[in-house]
This record gives sequence, C-alpha cells and structure tokens, in this order.
Amino acid sequence: MAVPKHVGIIMDGNRRFAKRLMLEPWKGHEWGKKKLEEVIDYAHDLGILELTLFAFSIQNFKRPKKEFDFLMKLFKEACNDLLKDVRIEKYKIRVRFIGRIQMFPDELADLMRQVMDKTQGNDKFFLNLAMAYGGREEIVDAIKKISRNIKEGKLDPEKIDEETIANNLYIKSQPDLIIRTGEEKRISNFLLWQGNYAELIFLDKHWPEFTKKDFEKCIKEYDRRERRFGK
Ligand code: IPE
Ligand code: MG
Repeated sequence: MAVPKHVGIIMDGNRRFAKRLMLEPWKGHEWGKKKLEEVIDYAHDLGILELTLFAFSIQNFKRPKKEFDFLMKLFKEACNDLLKDVRIEKYKIRVRFIGRIQMFPDELADLMRQVMDKTQGNDKFFLNLAMAYGGREEIVDAIKKISRNIKEGKLDPEKIDEETIANNLYIKSQPDLIIRTGEEKRISNFLLWQGNYAELIFLDKHWPEFTKKDFEKCIKEYDRRERRFGK
C-alpha cells in the first residue's frame, strides 16, 4: 500500500463538537488538544514520516477574547507537555512551529522556541505545527526574504525560480495528502504553495471524533487514488 510520507491535517470542528455536548464552545479545544496528542501515535504507527497540523491561523487572532485566552493557556500546556513527552526521544521527533509566532504573547513564543531548540537534532519524524499561520502570509514572508537578498546583491532576480520560493517558505516539504475534519470543504489558506498537488480528503466528523480507524481509511483512500501530477 502507498503510504503518504507527509500528511497535512486541518483540525476543524472543535467548537461544534463541544456545543453538541452542551458545553461552552471553546471547551472543545481541550478535546482537540488531546486528539492532537493521539494523532502523533496514529501517524507514527501508520508509517507516516511528517505531519503538518493546522492549529491556529492568523485569522483566528480575531476570536473572542475569552476563547483566545483559553487557547493561549492550552498552547502553553501543549508546549510544556511536548518538552516532557517521552515520544520526542523515542520516535526522534523534530517539532517546528510554522507561522508568525512572534504574534503570540512572549511567554508562549518563548516556549515554542524552546520546543524547537530541544528537538532540532531529531530526524526520524517531523511534526510541524502551523500556528499564527496563513498560506498567503507565508508567501508574503518568503517574498520579503527574497527581496532582501536581492537588495543586498546576493541574488539575481533573473535567477528566481520555484526552488527559490520553496526554499524561503516556513517549510519546504510538500504534503501528499491533506485531510480536513469538520464538514467544511475548503482549504482555508493552508499550505497553498506546498499543497498544489496534495490529495484532499474531507471528513464529516469533528476533530475530537477523529479515530485511528478514520486515519487508516484515509490512507486506504489515498492509496486508491492515481496521482498523475498533470501528466
Ligand atoms: C478548530 O475548531 C480549532 C481552531 C481553529 C483553533 P474550531 O474552533 O474552528 O471549531 P468550529 O469549526 O467552530 O466548530
Ligand atoms: Mg472552524
């Protein structure tokens, strides 16, 4: 069976999940966090090598204050959990936060940097957490970096090609498969450049309901698809 090397997941539907349980909507993020932790094992067991999870978009900064504060607390907990997680060494996981993490409160941004520093030598499994992330914003940031190189005389504009742009994004690696939970059928500014030929699977389940069986079904569905890359 063809197992995708790199899987992207848009983890959507936390609040609708909580509402159904008659809880305050943002409580759903607690279940979402638990699911994220489980999914690392699912992916590792299935033989996937890289996971990019969309956890918080630039647009999500506009969420109500109560929810935002709750999420910041959860993200800090998640970073502290990652710093202690035995799987980091066991699976040799390199964690990267991709996005404009300087937009987060300092304490959280520092924790994120600690997690990245601690795991930067690991090379068996790659966990990318897209936070303060936007696909267009990522391209804007890449263009800024490229422009600086031109200004400093390090780069000839005529030499710019796809490779130049890919090299200046937050991550270069391209997802083979993107899964979105939570019923919506759109890509919502996720990995716009890298995902150009990704297979897409949309699930009706909300993120906290996603199971290992669902993940397996997605891999089987991926295996059935014929990838032609326009040929
Ligand atoms: C996804 O769930 C998590 C984040 C974007 C932080 P939502 O919070 O978007 O939940 P729904 O889609 O409103 O149910
Ligand atoms: Mg949503």
